[in-house]
Amino acid sequence: MNNNGHTFGGPWTEQKLECVSKYLHAYTTIMSKQPFRFAYIDAFAGTGYREMESDEGTDELMFPALASPEVASFHDGSARNALEVEPAFMKYIFIEKDIDRYAELEELKQEYLLKPEFSEDMIECRHEDANEYLKGLCKKNWKTNRALVFLDPYGMQVEWTTIESIARTQAIDLWILFPLGTVNRLLKNDGEIRPVLQTRLDMFFGEHSWYDAFYQSAKQLSLFDEEDRWQKSGNIFVAIEQYFIDRLQSLFSGVATNPLILRNSKNVPLYILCFAANNQRGAPIAVKIAKDILEGMQNPSQLSLLN
Ligand SMILES: C[S@@+](CC[C@H](N)C(=O)[O-])C[C@H]1O[C@@H](n2cnc3c(N)ncnc32)[C@H](O)[C@@H]1O
Repeated sequence: MNNNGHTFGGPWTEQKLECVSKYLHAYTTIMSKQPFRFAYIDAFAGTGYREMESDEGTDELMFPALASPEVASFHDGSARNALEVEPAFMKYIFIEKDIDRYAELEELKQEYLLKPEFSEDMIECRHEDANEYLKGLCKKNWKTNRALVFLDPYGMQVEWTTIESIARTQAIDLWILFPLGTVNRLLKNDGEIRPVLQTRLDMFFGEHSWYDAFYQSAKQLSLFDEEDRWQKSGNIFVAIEQYFIDRLQSLFSGVATNPLILRNSKNVPLYILCFAANNQRGAPIAVKIAKDILEGMQNPSQLSLLN
């Protein structure tokens, strides 16, 4: 590990990784008895470890100057967690856009290649844009291949067209971290959202109807006549969660309807961790396993906002 550091998250990060790790174990246990080649694809892989400072999530990542100076501890990140799963995956693909973090992933690979159970062709690190790489990979022939993809971005980096590509393979189980807090911050109370941000949200949700889902028309009396204005939905976190689950259900035959709500220390929702699968045969059992894990992870404050 070099001294570049990779600082993000807080206790909610632990919950997120614990949830995904539990699923990884169930996944490889089942898949090792099936006739498929199966891979783990970590598309926002980071470095393999996490340096924890505080628990405020995206704000600090968007405004690093706000981050607290003290470093608490080092923890395994998602890539290392996946490499520790038993039974092992047949292949690991780690994608990272940042050159320094990618270099750390290469170091992680070398560390694991010292173990007899890993071979050079089992671990692939890619210094690429996750959306571009995944869209290309999803076009390949998936008949005898299966994968579990983990999309763990800081904010709104996942494009809807990437999620569409994943669903089309009918061979990939998906865990995705949805940035509830970031989306909420973009949704101005009066609905006056700059066109550039509207386009960003369109790309993120794959359509424009998010506006109708998050805003209601409200009449306002002016001096001369009644004016139309827009008002943000009262329970916006619930509205966003429901809308994203609906969007996933428009693509995937199986979606866990009890995503994990990840909150900061002030109990403000930051992210929701969602699961979806679209394999005709496997999706029902995959969703059942994911739902059970999600339910087991939820204390009352993390219950899906939809409950
Ligand atoms: C929240 S961190 C990932 C943490 C990691 N999953 C873990 O648990 O250790 C998000 C990572 O995605 C990377 N990233 C951001 N945009 C990306 C993109 N378009 N393609 C690939 N990686 C990206 C960032 O550099 C960052 O390392």
